[in-house]
Amino acid sequence: MSVPVTTLIDDPIARVLGELHERLRHDYRGEVSASIPTLANADHKLFGLAVCSPDGFVSEAGDVDVEFSVQSISKAFTYALALSDRGREAVHEHVGAEPSGEAFSAISLEEETGRPDNPMINAGALVTCALVGGEDAREKFARIRSLMEAAAGRTLGFDETVYEEEQAASDRNRALAHFMRSAGSLTDEVDPTMEVYLRQCSVLVTTRDLAIMGATLARGGINPVTGDRVFSGEVARHVLTVMATCGMYDYSGEWLLTVGTPAKSGVSGGLITASPGQFGMGLFSPKLDARGNSVRGVAASQDLAERFQLHAL
Ligand code: DON
Repeated sequence: MSVPVTTLIDDPIARVLGELHERLRHDYRGEVSASIPTLANADHKLFGLAVCSPDGFVSEAGDVDVEFSVQSISKAFTYALALSDRGREAVHEHVGAEPSGEAFSAISLEEETGRPDNPMINAGALVTCALVGGEDAREKFARIRSLMEAAAGRTLGFDETVYEEEQAASDRNRALAHFMRSAGSLTDEVDPTMEVYLRQCSVLVTTRDLAIMGATLARGGINPVTGDRVFSGEVARHVLTVMATCGMYDYSGEWLLTVGTPAKSGVSGGLITASPGQFGMGLFSPKLDARGNSVRGVAASQDLAERFQLHAL
């Protein structure tokens, strides 16, 4: 499955992205993630920027075709699928919708209910993985992957090495899962839940994919390149809302102040953002700041937000 993506020959947005790429590629702040060998060995010079308009035109600059593991950006799409399968009330019986104000791997469960704070932190994503419909881990993961593929408009690869490395480095997430199982918020067994979660993190995307996936959210669940409905407008609204308040972890408040659009970052250096009703944007550069967000991705988003008045509020 792959739909040809249209770009313009003389594209003013691509020109701006090109200028930004040229300026920010000299920004070497931050560190690549040391969480697994594949990420620790990532080429830190990589930098891609792409914007997808509501009618499916893609503007891009830099390394937009390089594949990297989607990591935590998948959390937004698993949440979308859990909402589609179960409805908002049933999902939020098990996971909250409040910013945690803590790191993505924090053990932040509500005292009374045992719910993790939101679906964008690891604990909350484990809960949404368990809530996705399917007989077993294989079927749940296949459905999550298909949803991401429909949002990207093409078949997405899978990095077996990343998956194995993630399994080998999963003590903390596994502990979180056991803890939530005992608190009653995790509805499935620990092992299959870990498998679904770590597999979804190991799906490969490009910066261009992220722009189209963002535009699918911005278009209320319709992929503007393929024209296919991927999830309902209501689901898109819930996902964008939680991305706005929780998608950038403990940087979410400052992100909303300085960029002002729903967004989600991942530890491989990917970043997806969506301007509701307008466009989707994908950014990728592996060096991360102290909160786990791509340094160049955040800097480019802030520049573009200022330049194009992206602020949704
Ligand atoms: O849970 C983990 O350790 C990773 N596989 C995903 C984490 C992630 O991308 C967090 N984002 N910044």
